[in-house]
Amino acid sequence: MLQLACVGVGTVLVLRVRPLLGSLAFAELMVVASVAGIVTIAGWVLLRREHKSTLRMAHSMLEERVLKASLQETVEKRTIELEEAQRVLQRMWWLGQQITLELNPQRVLERFLEAVSDIAGADGGAVGLIGEEGRLHIVVGTGLLATYAGMTVSMADSAMGRVIRSGAAWTVTDIDEHPEQVSAEVYEQVRGKLRGMAIVPISRRGERIGAVNLVTRESRRFTTADLERIESMSDLLSVSLENAELVETLRKTEWRFRTLFRAAPDAVFTVLQSGRIREANDAVREITGLEPRLTVGREIVELVAEADRPPLQSALDATLAGRPSRVEVAFQHEEEGVITRRIVAVAMSRLPEADPPALLLVARDVTTEREMRSRLMEADRLAAVGELVAGVAHEVNNPLSSISAFSQLMLRDEGLTESQREGLEVIKSETIRASQVVKDLLAFARRSGPHRELVDLNDIVERTLRLRGYQMKSSKVTLVTQLSPQIPHVAGDARQLQQVCLNLVVNAVQAMTATGGGTLRLMTHSDAGKVVMDVQDTGGGIPAWAKARIFEPFFTTKEEGEGTGLGLSVSYGIIAAHGGTIEAVETSQQGTTMRVTLPSSESI
Ligand SMILES: Nc1ncnc2c1ncn2[C@@H]1O[C@H](COP(=O)(O)OP(=O)(O)OP(=O)(O)O)[C@@H](O)[C@H]1O
Ligand SMILES: [Mg+2]
Repeated sequence: MLQLACVGVGTVLVLRVRPLLGSLAFAELMVVASVAGIVTIAGWVLLRREHKSTLRMAHSMLEERVLKASLQETVEKRTIELEEAQRVLQRMWWLGQQITLELNPQRVLERFLEAVSDIAGADGGAVGLIGEEGRLHIVVGTGLLATYAGMTVSMADSAMGRVIRSGAAWTVTDIDEHPEQVSAEVYEQVRGKLRGMAIVPISRRGERIGAVNLVTRESRRFTTADLERIESMSDLLSVSLENAELVETLRKTEWRFRTLFRAAPDAVFTVLQSGRIREANDAVREITGLEPRLTVGREIVELVAEADRPPLQSALDATLAGRPSRVEVAFQHEEEGVITRRIVAVAMSRLPEADPPALLLVARDVTTEREMRSRLMEADRLAAVGELVAGVAHEVNNPLSSISAFSQLMLRDEGLTESQREGLEVIKSETIRASQVVKDLLAFARRSGPHRELVDLNDIVERTLRLRGYQMKSSKVTLVTQLSPQIPHVAGDARQLQQVCLNLVVNAVQAMTATGGGTLRLMTHSDAGKVVMDVQDTGGGIPAWAKARIFEPFFTTKEEGEGTGLGLSVSYGIIAAHGGTIEAVETSQQGTTMRVTLPSSESI
């Protein structure tokens, strides 16, 4: 504008100075003025155009800035959304880990419910699984639905049942607006307490096994993303549940086998190729005298008596080579100087597919059977001996009576010389001694029952000890009696029972005299309808080789003239006729215990 004004003022000035200038100079001035005018107008036009483009540029810059701001806002919003999604994913991953780590099915369900409630932001939830009878069991509940755990719901009219049948997740923003969607019974219970609800089915290998129900206190819409997340957690649940159930089954099976193994009445070992024990059950204690865990790692052959080691080893070798074997060995252990032996029948076989190779050994304690068998054999043998002895005794008895009668008759003759009389006296006394032996033999072989009266065994013991008091003192034997006052009477022959007691006491005192004295203990007690008398000494014991023969008539280890070997055989005969038993229950270099067991009169 200013430039146009200048052009105007210039034109006026040129017209004013025109009269003052020559026509040539004027023409030149006009040309200059015209050129200036043209230049000015062109500059103005250009300036105008420039101005317009500047304005356009400013406008577009402004637009660009607005666009940038909105873009930034979108990016920020997406970033927040992505961060939130990542947080949820991380949480799902972590909770998923927790679920898979659980090995107990119930804990898996609890963990799962905690996880889905957390991820979906619910105020409570429950998991229902279809039971065998077709009803829905609420197996776990939390938050607002905690009290529903343990309930069973009908599949037909519950919302969970409907979701399971349809297989599609279902959600409602406010249950109060759709009360018909849940069973009337449930609605009555939940009314006013909860509003938002989402139910997602749970499947295992394509089969629908239940549903998870999540609820909120306020009305709330569970989004599609929420439902999808619950669905993916449900997939994880079915896998974890299956794993946990497998582990549980495995654990139960393992427990069952372990219990069977531990509680087996026979001793059971598993033994490695090296002969070392790998496992041992509780019954092992009975035969080895050791805590089962202390036998683990030891060589099994070490636990048996030295003589039985080679047969046991060859049975182990044969079994390892695939030939199952059986062997009878004595397990032996020493405790406080006392050696205990148990006769054990061992059956062994190779464990199939065991790695490393191992053997299974089942060991049955047959000590009692073996003892019983040997006792029966002994009784049989003694019965046979008794038969023979009875026959001989009868045969000898008659000539003895005649010899005795005739010697006495001849002794009446007054015309006998001194030496004849002496000879006849010897015949008489020897026949009396021989008759006594025959009487003893008949006592051993006695078949008929003894004379019966009620006898107090304590009385018998005391009477016997009175008889032997002096002999004991002179043999440096200390006497200890432990007589139970409560023992019942026995029905029997007091005189014969006293003879038994006397025989045992004499043997005990003789055994201790040989070792220079000791302690004699006489004990009585009752045990399950039986009366027991123990005669215990601290003598040198019965030699192992002699133990099986002590009840045989004429078996003695004593010097000639000291013992005839009839004491125990007579006692055996008497006790057997009373329906009782007599045995050496213990004998070692520390002493011997002889035990007499008689039925009480009450038990007859
Ligand atoms: N308490 C004991 N301690 C050690 N050995 C014993 C004991 N009791 C018996 N015996 C052994 O048993 C054998 C048989 O005993 P038994 O009483 O039958 O005969 P004896 O004592 O030798 O002779 P008898 O009793 O006829 O005088 C004995 O010789 C002895 O070897
Ligand atoms: Mg004797």
